[in-house]
Parts: sequence; structure tokens; C-alpha cells
Amino acid sequence: MVKSKRILLIVSGGIAAYKSLELIRRLRERGFSVRVVMTKAAQEFVSPLSFAALSGQKVYTELFALTDEAEMGHIELSRDADLVVAVPATANIMGKLASGIADDLASTLLLATDTKILMAPAMNLRMWLNPATQRNLETLLRDGVIFVGPNDGDMACGEFGPGRMAEPLEIAAAIENCLKQPTKIPAPGAAASPSSGSKPLAGRHVLLTSGPTHEPIDPVRYIANRSSGRQGHAIAAAARDAGARVTLVSGPVPIAAPHGVNLVSVETAQQMYDAVHAHLPADIFIGAAAVADWKVSAPSKGKIKKTGDGPPALSLSENPDILASIGKLKKGRPLYVAGFAAETGELEKNGRAKLVKKACDLIVANDVNPETGVMGGDFNTVRLITKAGIEDWPILPKEEVANQLIARIAKLVSELKR
Ligand SMILES: Cc1cc2nc3c(=O)[nH]c(=O)nc-3n(C[C@H](O)[C@H](O)[C@H](O)COP(=O)(O)O)c2cc1C
Repeated sequence: MVKSKRILLIVSGGIAAYKSLELIRRLRERGFSVRVVMTKAAQEFVSPLSFAALSGQKVYTELFALTDEAEMGHIELSRDADLVVAVPATANIMGKLASGIADDLASTLLLATDTKILMAPAMNLRMWLNPATQRNLETLLRDGVIFVGPNDGDMACGEFGPGRMAEPLEIAAAIENCLKQPTKIPAPGAAASPSSGSKPLAGRHVLLTSGPTHEPIDPVRYIANRSSGRQGHAIAAAARDAGARVTLVSGPVPIAAPHGVNLVSVETAQQMYDAVHAHLPADIFIGAAAVADWKVSAPSKGKIKKTGDGPPALSLSENPDILASIGKLKKGRPLYVAGFAAETGELEKNGRAKLVKKACDLIVANDVNPETGVMGGDFNTVRLITKAGIEDWPILPKEEVANQLIARIAKLVSELKR
């Protein structure tokens, strides 16, 4: 558990503001100190006195307050925290941060802070689904803001749908999770901090797969899937930044390989299998590719013609299982083997089964139902499954998932006895 961390809690003016009181209790139970800032609208819902009583600290509400400024300036207030959280986050405060507006204490602090920001939006479903809010969400995600919720559920306004704030326990878990990673953002142009400059994977060889595979039907047609390679390529870049020598075995993708990694381009699952085994030994193997399970048993040498007798019957056979073949290596197994499980249902059950069946150390399970936009999209929401348990990550840009995953694997590998 992460303890003795300072949270700056910004409460904005939504009906869910009262739930922040319970969040404070949950955070204090976990050993966090919580300093509260309230917007003018938030004070219409809950009195600052309740927040002062539960946090045990003065509550800040005004930007232009001489006594507050003398006691603790607004810049200092924004920096004297390990994490800034906006709970609830109104559509208004999301919009202000997305457009760089700083017209009260809360929005000024959000803009002036040097730590990561976590937001728990709460609003009517039409406000949430409004294209303006969705645009702001995209902008904020790109800017590195972390989100927890909103969930689907009954609304105070009597409607049902997305917009209901995540529950305080869920938010407390997301906060703990964020604090496992460095949260301070270095000033632009500043020398890298010792932690960002450190290379936890220096001297390690990371071998990973990315993208789809193409399984030929004939010389012009193939079976494929919607994987873009963005998540796998981002992991390759993160591993490189962590100091590793990286071999990226990639299927056909529309994106360039990150600089400084050794790219091995393949087309089929069999070629990917062969390339992976040819590039062993490795310290870490990460199977992020969406490898086709089946191939056409006997691809035609010439283009299959329409004969007028109906479509040809394609006979399929199974492709080799690359992840299992690495996980089960008797000799020369990498120290750490991680795989992705793209699922459209029963994420946890299927992910756990894959962990055992493929003898992996970690499964990154993600929901690839079309409505999630994960396949080919910019963001990912993953569930980490290890023998020790399950961890849900909030929706994050794929680059951030990559950074956090590599930091996690680097730590786990450093703890292994060689
Ligand atoms: C009864 C009531 C409930 C509201 N609930 C929400 C809400 O849940 N989410 C939201 O984004 N705005 C809600 N609003 C609107 C905000 O209070 C309003 O946009 C305000 O300007 C937000 O200011 P702030 O972001 O500075 O706190 C509500 C307004 C009223 C009157």
C-alpha cells in the first residue's frame, strides 16, 4: 500500500459532490493526507465545513484571498501534492482544463500543477455524451489526465446511462494505482529527474511481437484482423526508453517502428513464430501481437477464380501458439513472459485461463468489443492478471499503458532471483 502521500482534492459543482466526503474517509483510512479545494458551485451542494471536518485541514475556495496567498500561495498549493484529483469533475471543469482556462482557484490549480491529474467525471448522460464533452475528454486523455469512470447507472436526474461517478472505493483504488508510478511531471526543458533518467532495463533484451498477422488465401487475398500495432509498438518504445535492447517482431502495420529498436517484419503467424525463436535468448518476452489462430491449410498458388459453382470452401488449420511456446520453454525461457488477451467477453475468466494454459507470468487482458474502440484506437483499458491477483487500470492512452507496463515488468524482473 502507498502511504503518507498528499492528495489535493478538487471538488467541483455536481450532485455527486457529497460522495467526495466518503472518498476523504477512504483516503485517510489508507494513510493519505487530503487538502480540499472547492469551486463556487461545489459549495452549493456541500458546505466547506464538512470537508474541513473530514480532512482535518483548511478548505481553500478563493483565488484572490490575501490571507491564503500569504499562508500558502496558489502555485505552492498546486505543487504541494503527490496527486491532484478532481472528484467529482463537472463537464465545466473538464472543458476549462481542456481549453486552458484558469478563472477560479480550482481551474488555476489544475493548470499550474506539476503532478499528474486524475478526474472522476460525474454528470447527466446527455452532458457526458455531448460531442463537446467527448472532445474535451479526448484532449485531456491526450494531455495525460487519468480518468476513473464514469460508470453506467441510475442518475440523480432519473435517467440511466453513462455519467454516474465511479464509487469512492473505486476512486481510492485508482489513486493508489496512480501513486505506484512517478506522478511529478518535469518542467519543460528541465534536466531529467534521476528516476526518469534511470534505465531499469539496461543490459536486458526485450523481445516482443506486435500487430496482426496475415494468413494468405491466395497471392492476393488474406485473412487478417483489426490490430494496428500501436500498443505493441508503444511498448517497444517504452522498453527502449527503459534502456533495453529491443527486438520488435511485427506483422504488417501502417505505422513506423520506433527509432532504435531492431525491427523484424513478418507476415504470417508461422513467420512470427520462427522469427521470435530465432531471436532468443531474451530476458523478457511480451506477446502483444494479435496472432491469427488459424491459417488456410493450403493457400492457392494462383488467384482463386469465380467459377460460377459458388464460393470455394476454405479449409483452416491451427497456427502455432507463439506465447505458449515461449512460456513453456524448458531451456532458455525468458525471465518474464507476458501476453495480451484480446477478449469480447468474460475478460477475467479467459485471461486467467490463458495465464495457466500458456505458462505466462502476466496477462494483459483487454476488451476489444467494437464499442470500446480499443482495436486500432488511441486508448486502451486493461486488466492485469498475474498469479498474485487482478488489477484494473483506468482508460489510458496506449503510450501510457506501455510506460506503466514496462515500469511494472522492470520492477518485477529486478525482484526476481536469478
Ligand atoms: C442541481 C444541480 C446539479 C448539477 N449536477 C451537475 C453534475 O452532476 N455534473 C455537472 O457537470 N454539472 C452539474 N451541474 C451544473 C454545474 O453545477 C455547473 O455547470 C457549474 O457551472 C459547474 O461549476 P464548477 O465546474 O466550477 O464547479 C448541476 C447543477 C445543478 C443546479
